[in-house]
Order: sequence, then C-alpha cells, then structure tokens
Amino acid sequence: MTDVKKSSMTIAIDGTAGVGKSSVGKAVALKYGLSFLSTGQMYRCLGWKVLNSGIDVDNPEAVTEAAKSIVWGFERQADSSLKVLIDGQYLGDKLQLEEVGRAASKTSAIPEARAVIMQKQIDLGKKGGIVMEGRDIGTVICPEAPVKIYLTAAPEARAVRRVKQLEEQGEKPDYQNILASIISRDERDSNRAVSPLKPAEDAVIIDTSALNLEQVINKVLEAVAKVW
Ligand code: DC
Repeated sequence: MTDVKKSSMTIAIDGTAGVGKSSVGKAVALKYGLSFLSTGQMYRCLGWKVLNSGIDVDNPEAVTEAAKSIVWGFERQADSSLKVLIDGQYLGDKLQLEEVGRAASKTSAIPEARAVIMQKQIDLGKKGGIVMEGRDIGTVICPEAPVKIYLTAAPEARAVRRVKQLEEQGEKPDYQNILASIISRDERDSNRAVSPLKPAEDAVIIDTSALNLEQVINKVLEAVAKVW
C-alpha cells in the first residue's frame, strides 16, 4: 500500500485502563502520519461538564442533555495526538482528576449520553487518517477498521507501572490502593450493559505484562504490515 493510502487508514486500539494504549497509539500514529485520539478524553470532558454544571451524574436525562449541548473541537498536536476542546475550552490536566475519571466512568455507562458521544467518534473514524484508542473502538465505533489491536496486561503489572509513573511525578502512591482501583475499573468497564470492554473477534490481542513500550509498538507495526 502507498503512503497516501496509509495516511487515510483507521487503526482501532482497545484495552483495559492503564495498559499503555495512548503511548502505543501515539507512536503508531506518528509513524504513519495519522492523528491519534484518546476517546476516553471525550467521556472525561462530559464528566467534567456534568460535575462543573452541578448536574447529578445519576440523572440520565440531564447528563444526556449535557452531552448533546457540547460543541467539540479537535486540534492536532506535534506528537500526532488530537487535543480535545469542549465548548471552545481545553481542560488539560483537569481531565486526569480522579473525580473526573469517576464521573466519566458513570456517564459513559448511560446509553443515551454514550450514543451522543459515540456518533461523534463514528464520524471521526469514518473520515480516516486516525488511530483511535478506547474500549469499544474495534467492536462498535470502527468495526470496519482493517487493523484492530486489543492490549491487555495483568492488573499487578499495570499497578506497578502506575506507581512508578506517580513516583516520577513526586507523589507517594499506595500500591494496594492503586491495584484495587484498577481491578474495580476493569470490572465496571467489562460488565456494563452498553459497549462493554471486550476484544473484537478479529483483533490482534497483545499481552503487554512482560513487554516494554518499544516491544509493544513493534508488535502493532507487525500487525499493520500484515494488512498493508
Ligand atoms: O481511557 P480513560 O480512562 O480516559 O477513559 C475514561 C472513562 O471513559 C473510562 O471509565 C472508560 C470510559 N470510556 C469508554 O467507555 N469508552 C471509550 N471508548 C473510552 C473510554
């Protein structure tokens, strides 16, 4: 396949929280000149909007109205990632707050609110030229994507990575707490009624527990090379 065609392809990357989907996705996008979108950012934006507007996260109608009212913006950065703007605003680090993550997890499980955000993602996937990372990209958002990757790793391996990451940021994280929160998020993401986390039937499954970032990226590039 020519590079022109490669620059219009869609790659779906799904997997559990904290498995390294963003680092892998960005590197793969850079390699092929694609954009990279972390779709969880959109659910986090909705979570933030709900918290910030004093809307009850457990009120499906109000959350859905909030989702419908969002004006989305996407700006491509030098590292290939799309910066997500909500109502003209970039939320940056606020999106990573624990409470925003919790709200995102709840709002993303409301079918009507989820459908609003999913439609935006489906449109982005159809345009192509993008690596999308999330939980349901290969199964629901871009079922036609020629390359579907599913990344997984033991919760313990992800907890160790997260602890290291936080320590590098000068924090003193508790391993057991982090492990418990990873396990409970996995359960919520995998057992919800709408778009539960699971690999697409034709996904390439990569267990990253014992692999470093470069090794995972190489496996994804191998999967792309098989198709193109
Ligand atoms: O990947 P993340 O931690 O930024 O995702 C935030 C929340 O959004 C998480 O609880 C799972 C949910 N999510 C989802 O339901 N579907 C996606 N495609 C991406 C994220």
